[in-house]
Amino acid sequence: MAWASPSAFRLIFTASLLLALLDLCRGSTIGVCYGRNADDLPTPDKVVELVKEHNIKYLRIYDSNIQILKAFANSGVELVIGVPNSDLLAFSQFQSNVDTWLKNSVLPYYPATKITYITVGAEVTEDWNNNASALVVPAMQNVFTALKKAGLHKKIKVSSTHSLGVLSRSFPPSAGAFNSSYASFLRPMLEFLAENQSPFMVDIYPYYAYRDSPTNVSLDYALFQSSFEVIDPNTGLVYTNLFDAQIDAIYYALMALNFKTIKVMVTETGWPSKGSLKETAATPDNAQTYNTNLIRHVINDTGTPAKPGEELDVYIFSLFNENRKPGMESERNWGLFYPDGTSVYNLDFTGKGVTEMGSGGNATNSTGPTWCIASSTASEADLQNALNWACGPGNVDCTAIQPSQPCYEPETLISHASYAFNSYYQQNGATDVACSFGGAGVKVTKDPSKYSCVSLSSFVTYISFPHVFTSEQ
Ligand SMILES: *[C@@H]1O[C@H](CO)[C@@H](O)[C@H](O)[C@H]1NC(C)=O
Ligand SMILES: *[C@@H]1O[C@H](CO)[C@@H](O)[C@H](O)[C@H]1NC(C)=O
Ligand SMILES: *[C@@H]1O[C@H](CO)[C@@H](O)[C@H](O)[C@H]1NC(C)=O
Ligand SMILES: *[C@@H]1O[C@H](CO)[C@@H](O)[C@H](O)[C@H]1NC(C)=O
Ligand SMILES: *[C@@H]1O[C@H](CO)[C@@H](O)[C@H](O)[C@H]1NC(C)=O
Ligand SMILES: *[C@@H]1O[C@H](CO)[C@@H](O)[C@H](O)[C@H]1NC(C)=O
Repeated sequence: MAWASPSAFRLIFTASLLLALLDLCRGSTIGVCYGRNADDLPTPDKVVELVKEHNIKYLRIYDSNIQILKAFANSGVELVIGVPNSDLLAFSQFQSNVDTWLKNSVLPYYPATKITYITVGAEVTEDWNNNASALVVPAMQNVFTALKKAGLHKKIKVSSTHSLGVLSRSFPPSAGAFNSSYASFLRPMLEFLAENQSPFMVDIYPYYAYRDSPTNVSLDYALFQSSFEVIDPNTGLVYTNLFDAQIDAIYYALMALNFKTIKVMVTETGWPSKGSLKETAATPDNAQTYNTNLIRHVINDTGTPAKPGEELDVYIFSLFNENRKPGMESERNWGLFYPDGTSVYNLDFTGKGVTEMGSGGNATNSTGPTWCIASSTASEADLQNALNWACGPGNVDCTAIQPSQPCYEPETLISHASYAFNSYYQQNGATDVACSFGGAGVKVTKDPSKYSCVSLSSFVTYISFPHVFTSEQ
């Protein structure tokens, strides 16, 4: 695959930034998901009060519950409503089913209750029981047709939400690609979204990336407070948080299929405030840090490195702790509020207030850069195994140490291993554990570029320490 040069990308980005400015924009928005998998939640009327009191203007529900639609009439709050996966069969089979649903369950409450999106199906690739993937596009088309008959297809957009599992690759972001197993429903869905200017909806959870792979993902990087930067080697773009990297992976996956106009919308993200003993990162401090930083980042219209300045609408999961959610302890503790309406932790939805940050942990001692190289005492077999691992499952791009590439010389195992170890180490937060390689790696504080290719050239270095590797010039 041929990659455009960074400067070509910059041109494209500048052009898209201009277009974004020309397009009269309302700015990025922050909403909250109102999940109801609980038996102790307040009534919808009380929820309206709570939501207004906290200045929440956008809310996502997972169905079209009539009590809720009624309660939010004239509240000024904009709703995303949903068609559950269990309804996809009926919705895909007969247009009349959908027409009836719209007529009875939605239109009577609209426009007093503002509805801006209908999500048809949720994370269908995770739902085998309902045959959801096969049914979702026909159901979306029927919902669109019903809206069109009611003259509302321009005011209420139709889409469907996805988990990040829809990608087969998300790192580096520029290599983002959809899993080809899903092509049969994804391609027609993307065509539908492009044609109707509907967003691609995705649920993004840096928390799970950290929980499931703490050695590969640093907590600070997940919490938007990283002291290091991850550089995408294909684009030169600099990432300071996992959220942006995951969103850009989606944008690149869309671009790879030539869908360049579809926007991304984040229909769920968040951080749990409590978990089982094993889920050490699920704390109120971390949840507050993640959501506070998320809101500031989004409200600022920062965009992502691949889409600077692009508006992004984001929904935080979730309004309440939900006591009936199955799974690990954290599952029941994603809420911003307890069912009695008190806050689990303080959060400023305007993104403007100054909240004391929770201490999220620090991956690196910021006094100076460190490198990770191959230990001169490790056995050849251990070095080879660790090298294979780093360049394979470890996700290090080892192109530079291939024959005729810049870091092939010196052609020694220890030099190649050092290159791979250091890339892996920098790429994964420069934590001690990211330099273990079963004892084959050692951390050094002196720049090792004299005797290996570890930090010589910018494009082979994933991480730039401020003022140390400046790759742009
Ligand atoms: C799933 O849906 C597809 C398309 O409607 C259909 O052909 C297939 O038989 C369904 N599979 C199951 C297990 O219901
Ligand atoms: C792609 O999806 C299929 C079907 O869900 C799954 O078995 C496979 O592991 C996925 N591939 C990748 C690379 O995630
Ligand atoms: C780190 O990432 C690699 C490659 O993606 C994976 O094989 C490995 O299991 C991960 N480590 C942990 C602790 O999850
Ligand atoms: C807000 O945007 C400005 C300009 O784009 C940027 O320099 C700053 O870092 C952003 N702040 C946050 C919190 O993202
Ligand atoms: C951050 O680093 C300092 C110094 O290494 C350490 O004392 C402190 O406990 C760290 N904080 C966290 C939350 O890990
Ligand atoms: C960082 O490391 C230096 C030297 O290794 C040490 O003197 C300093 O106290 C450390 N800083 C923190 C915040 O731990």
